[in-house]
Amino acid sequence: MAHRWRGIALGVTLVAAAGGYAALPSQSAIASTGVILGHVPTAPAPTSATIVIGKDAADHGYKTKVVTISQGASLTVVNEDNIEHTVTSVGLGSNSLPLFDHFAHPGSTSSIPGASKLAPGRYQFYCRFHPSVMRGTLIVEKVAGGGGGTHPVKLSYDQPLKLPKVLTGSHLTIPVKRAQVRVLPHGPKTWMWTYDGSYPGPTIRRPAGKDTTVTFVNKLPKSAGAITVHLHGDHHPWQDDGQPDRFLIHHGDRRTYDYPLTDAGKPEPEAFDWYHDHRMNRTARNNWMGLQGMFIVTDKAERQLRLPGGRYDVPLLFSDRSFTKTNQLTNPFKGRSPSMTGKTGPAAPPGDGVVGKQVLVDGRFAPYLNVSTHRYRLRLLNASPFETYDFALSDGRPFVQIGTGDDLLPRPVIRQDILLGPSQRADVIVDFHDELHQKVLLQTISKPNGAPVGVGSPTASLMQFRVNRAVTDHSRIPSRLEKPPPLKAPKKISMTWTIGLGGNATTGTYWTINGKPFNPHRVDVEVPLGSTESWLIKNDSPVTHFIHLHEEQWHTIKVDGKRPPPWNRTLEDTWRIDPGGSVEVAATFTDYTGVFMLHCHMLVHEDDGMMAQFAVVDPHTHKLPRGYHLANKANSTHGMKMSMTMPMSGGAGGGPTSSTTWARAAIRSSRALALELSALTMILGWRRYRRDGISAI
Ligand code: C2O
Ligand code: CU
Repeated sequence: MAHRWRGIALGVTLVAAAGGYAALPSQSAIASTGVILGHVPTAPAPTSATIVIGKDAADHGYKTKVVTISQGASLTVVNEDNIEHTVTSVGLGSNSLPLFDHFAHPGSTSSIPGASKLAPGRYQFYCRFHPSVMRGTLIVEKVAGGGGGTHPVKLSYDQPLKLPKVLTGSHLTIPVKRAQVRVLPHGPKTWMWTYDGSYPGPTIRRPAGKDTTVTFVNKLPKSAGAITVHLHGDHHPWQDDGQPDRFLIHHGDRRTYDYPLTDAGKPEPEAFDWYHDHRMNRTARNNWMGLQGMFIVTDKAERQLRLPGGRYDVPLLFSDRSFTKTNQLTNPFKGRSPSMTGKTGPAAPPGDGVVGKQVLVDGRFAPYLNVSTHRYRLRLLNASPFETYDFALSDGRPFVQIGTGDDLLPRPVIRQDILLGPSQRADVIVDFHDELHQKVLLQTISKPNGAPVGVGSPTASLMQFRVNRAVTDHSRIPSRLEKPPPLKAPKKISMTWTIGLGGNATTGTYWTINGKPFNPHRVDVEVPLGSTESWLIKNDSPVTHFIHLHEEQWHTIKVDGKRPPPWNRTLEDTWRIDPGGSVEVAATFTDYTGVFMLHCHMLVHEDDGMMAQFAVVDPHTHKLPRGYHLANKANSTHGMKMSMTMPMSGGAGGGPTSSTTWARAAIRSSRALALELSALTMILGWRRYRRDGISAI
């Protein structure tokens, strides 16, 4: 018990140290006011208070970063901003949900249920939509004659972590079907859409270079529609890539995907990949419903490193969901018409976020894992539809990162915390040697990244390690791991992808790449097979995105115009790009011609237009597969106000510019764009989640 509290306190310290948010000095000011009040001989009248959310709160945080009420008094929130925010407590009630979790609609004043029932104490709160900067503290003061009240309840870890079963065969068959699975520790099981009856689906584990086929059989209810499976991070033919709108698996049908696990005739590097549904317009829903699983590729060089293996190699898939009172998944997608080219109303971009209230680890809420005094290789995968997690350990010890999802790093990197957005992975070692009889929590902590409207992460404990067995450890962490395959990246950028927000409140808004929402028939650039190219991806939109490139494992050449941080110095497939930020990547296009995607991996963004395609073509014929056309570059501002108002939102061929000037211009114009969007589309915020139960399953 004590350790949990130590953990939580430490989490808070890290937050304060990293963020340095302005609350700390005023907290002590208020505390001393409390002391003075304590000397007043008669009981003071109960003090109520108001949390004020000012204009542009997403940039500046709550106006009132510290508020004080006396026990039993009411707490009000005024939202002066034009988008939705929440006041959500970090502390949990006995139902494992926040003590208060209140939505403040734009322009409204409302009182926060639950606040008047709180016991005296300090309560951290944050906004679910903007956890990066919107953080505050509520102080509930004791009143004379007062007592009782609701205390935060420590999260109890009531169920063991359950690793999905492991499949190692070269020809696998996986039925895709509805099944009841144990997700929450108490009460009914949860109906989900599953790969082979479990959530996550079976973990596939295969040696690099060994051809693997997986046959998926669509046994889902007919109303689920056709499905398509993408092996994320892997290099394989385009027909086996989980195309969003062709090569589909219709209800009752099956399809065999071929994964050679090679690149240019050589075995691929070791990898922590994952497979998931990729159906156009339905990717977020189908993943939410459960169509996700892990795929580990092992290689020879890695085996010689003597990294922790076997039971000490633990893949962890994190993903948030919300549940009804009967433990069923809510349906945040109800009433969202599938449309890549424009939505109006509260869930229109940029208000299309979907955030679940509970984070699951390998499909279970708040699990524990019995471990021994040994090094563990934890493979962390953020499979959430939208949310970012900043992983940290409660005992303050760092992770030793040894890889991304796509390859090992050249050498280990010590990291105090690891921020992973949707579909990003980190391969880390955690050492429990001197932790016998301790309990260590894996948490997500809040660490603002300093970028305007940059990404934020919630504060929550995710799982518990119970160190209860002493063993000897023969594993090691070598100081040199694996060099990524060599590549000479061309200096010249041959393609620039600019991500943004388009449309308007009347015709609808959508997310864009080079000014356009996704069109399954359009290809934006042709790449000759065998060529090596450097591409620039930049963010002209007002929010952070996580951009994923299919087809190859990519070298990260530059991040925001600079040499990438040490943990990016190997292969990668998904990058965080903050507003005004950019990444430069390079790869050689080997083995396969065909059409491949790039898109934001915040699944709702992908479903709302932020996706595009490139084609790898025969260098002589330049022939596209039937049914595709090459984008008409002259027409690239089609339907798009933004590319005209945006400086330097260069389409194909635009080169890099001075990154700081460009970043400033981009942020300014994103703001200008945001102002152009009417209050209607802005009205419900950047991110949202809803509560109705799923009816279609
Ligand atoms: Cu993980 Cu195109 O997807
Ligand atoms: Cu996005």
